[in-house]
Amino acid sequence: MPQEGFDPSLFVYAPVDLDEVRRRLGGMIAKIDDPGIASLVLEVIDSTPGFFEAPAAKFHHHAYIGGLAEHTLEATEIALSLSGTVNRTRMDTDVLLAGALLHDVGKAACFRHQGFSFVALPEYTLVGHTAIGAAAVLRHSAGVDPSRFAHILHIVMSHHGPYGEVKPRTPEAWAVHFADNASAFLRAALDDTADLAPEEERKGARCRQTVYRF
Ligand SMILES: [Fe+2]
Ligand SMILES: [Fe+2]
Repeated sequence: MPQEGFDPSLFVYAPVDLDEVRRRLGGMIAKIDDPGIASLVLEVIDSTPGFFEAPAAKFHHHAYIGGLAEHTLEATEIALSLSGTVNRTRMDTDVLLAGALLHDVGKAACFRHQGFSFVALPEYTLVGHTAIGAAAVLRHSAGVDPSRFAHILHIVMSHHGPYGEVKPRTPEAWAVHFADNASAFLRAALDDTADLAPEEERKGARCRQTVYRF
């Protein structure tokens, strides 16, 4: 095969339109009114190498190049629409947006390039992306109101919901948890059903539930 005709992307499953994801993530950041919170988000993402390339998981959901950015966008859009759909809510949407945008930022440090793809590092299981993400957020607290900063940190720490070490204590934290779950689970269920024949069912390896195709 001639060298100039070799395109590695032909051999790697990379379904994400990264330009589109970047543009829409920028749109979500632009919805943050507080300039201190907006720069917190930008500074953390800018100082996270691999944020736009890393997968969001080893296997279960968004496990492909750009998966982390795509999952982050989905979780943020879902969280924002949840906060706007439930009647008579008074959520702090700046804090909700920042928490959603940063909830999995620690995952970028849990993978490294290998060949054309990514492999998980020991940090993925030995430390965990929640603690790594919280540490990254803590490095950029300057310029954010301390109470709102603490709320953003709480959202990052509690995003795994009632079974995580830190349980959500605010409606904003619950909204990000539900949005995270919705994005992750639906991606997994969609990928588990993608190659089913009509009227076939199987135990979905990604979503870990039985899936069926009508
Ligand atoms: Fe997570
Ligand atoms: Fe997530």
